[in-house]
Amino acid sequence: MTSSGNVLTTEAQVKQQVRDFYDSVGWRSIGDGLYQNARYEDLRPVSREYIHRCHLRVSRYIPKSGKYLLDAGSGPIQYPEYLEYSKEFDYRVCLDISMLALKEARQRIGDHGLYVVGDIANLPFKSEVFKGLISLHTIHHLPSDEHKLAFFDLQRTLQPSGKAAIVYSWGIHSPLMKLLQIPISMAMRAIHARMRRKVGPERKPEVNQIENGDAHELISQPGTFTFKHDYRWIKSELIELTGLEIRVWRSVSTAFMRAFIHRKLFGKFWLRLIYAFEEIAPRYLGRIGQYPLILFQKPPSKSSRER
Ligand SMILES: C[S@@+](CC[C@H](N)C(=O)[O-])C[C@H]1O[C@@H](n2cnc3c(N)ncnc32)[C@H](O)[C@@H]1O
Repeated sequence: MTSSGNVLTTEAQVKQQVRDFYDSVGWRSIGDGLYQNARYEDLRPVSREYIHRCHLRVSRYIPKSGKYLLDAGSGPIQYPEYLEYSKEFDYRVCLDISMLALKEARQRIGDHGLYVVGDIANLPFKSEVFKGLISLHTIHHLPSDEHKLAFFDLQRTLQPSGKAAIVYSWGIHSPLMKLLQIPISMAMRAIHARMRRKVGPERKPEVNQIENGDAHELISQPGTFTFKHDYRWIKSELIELTGLEIRVWRSVSTAFMRAFIHRKLFGKFWLRLIYAFEEIAPRYLGRIGQYPLILFQKPPSKSSRER
């Protein structure tokens, strides 16, 4: 049993809730090729370069080519950078609990994809089939006691020497974002007050400047179940994963960017500086920042070790 809000629910109910959310809200289109899920991202032009470079980081840690790349919790492959990861693979195996996600993914990559409805904590694949795997922003949708299971099951499906890159979030446990929580709230309050003065009290501030009315209704829907472990938990519980390494994917949250990154305040410059720090101290910022990149691999086969 797990606790979601103040209602006790079973693991199966949590997953059902998550699936229903993505099928009926998260992967619904809000126009401009975007999904409701994009409300969690900062898509403003001022942040584009930084977000783009963070997305491309994932490519550095997975094999470039091979037969199958697993994308566990693929969603609809929503950002163009995501296509890069499997560009030179024969197939991208998209696994998701949401049917809508997979239908949308098929629209994007067609025959390059193989589409499987399934659960990331109980993968319907043989062992040692994937040369590489990614799982972006997905494990946190599992009940807390299934996170470890998911990491080890993912490793099971990797071929010898295969590599995995997982984007996770420390949620409220990120020391850096915790430190900035009060300044972020103050800045957001000031921004909202300024917007209300400009556009009137009835209009909600725009998320990613999406104007159409239906989109507003979808965007304002509440999210779904998430649970995030902290750095200490990951380090101690996943210690047996070969090659476990925690680096930074992105050190600042979307809330931080919306609060402090603005074109008129040289936002692009500050993001370039943040990116440069992330490149200099990837492990430190992976530990204290918002989103870590958790890397591991499958040990090489005995025969290749003996050679
Ligand atoms: C936040 S979205 C991320 C999608 C994509 N990886 C991305 O970065 O855009 C999470 C995805 O995980 C899927 N998901 C949630 N729980 C899952 C589970 N137990 N097994 C497989 N997929 C799951 C959801 O349906 C959704 O498509």
